Amino acid sequence: MTDTFDPPGTVADCALAVLTCADGRRKAAMTRDYAAHWRAARDAGTPMPMGRANPPLRPARPEKPELLSPRDVPRRRPGSAEGRIAILHAIAHIELNAVDLHWDILARFADTPMPPGFAEDWVRAADEEAKHFNLVCDRLEAMGSTYGALPAHAGMWRAAEDTADDLMGRLAVVPMVLEARGLDVTPGMIEIFRKAKDPETVAALDVIYAEEVGHVAYGSKWFHFLCGRADSDPKQVFHHLVRRYFHGALKPPFNEEKRAEAGIPPDFYWPLAEGADR
Ligand SMILES: [Fe+2]
Ligand SMILES: [Fe+2]
Repeated sequence: MTDTFDPPGTVADCALAVLTCADGRRKAAMTRDYAAHWRAARDAGTPMPMGRANPPLRPARPEKPELLSPRDVPRRRPGSAEGRIAILHAIAHIELNAVDLHWDILARFADTPMPPGFAEDWVRAADEEAKHFNLVCDRLEAMGSTYGALPAHAGMWRAAEDTADDLMGRLAVVPMVLEARGLDVTPGMIEIFRKAKDPETVAALDVIYAEEVGHVAYGSKWFHFLCGRADSDPKQVFHHLVRRYFHGALKPPFNEEKRAEAGIPPDFYWPLAEGADR
């Protein structure tokens, strides 16, 4: 990484700078650099203040990929090299959205008083998402493609817009539903690349799988913290918020082991699953 950026003075301004940058690789480079500055300031005993910012409702994005409704995104055939490129392209798109989502939660809810560990967790998660985006883009490029070469899912930012005024709703839907869904589906993707004898992509997906457990755990931790502060029942609040903000049922099979590791017990998600009496 040769790019370095003058970091803004506050976490919220770092977030704003990333959210208003349109280029994916540059977003990732800024994120990695700002996270390193954040850690250095913390270690020096002069932590970066949260500050305040007014983040855009939607982050800046590159001209490509073309964003389509999910039913118009061509279907993938994992047995072919083209199909595997399409899977990686979809993952790159998810990772880039995740970079923005983790900065967005810091900027958008900066006026909610939270312990210092809240910023620490989401700066780290944003840094890891930037690493994931780079890893997946590197694999795409090694396979002769690039992020932007294929169309991508247009609805990825909807959860952020729906929960723009509700920190608990954001935690329930983004890390505890959407990122938890990643834990369910990633082992199957790793298997596709293992069968295709592509150990470099398997290694990249193994890193993503291990680190995503942490992001779901951050979501669960801070969701439970806020429920405790409000003296409310976490399971009931979770069910209420997911029904309110998430469109549709949760899809089994669930990765119960990794969900448990991330602090999400079965009675949180099974009552919201397809076929359950919701
Ligand atoms: Fe990720
Ligand atoms: Fe994540």
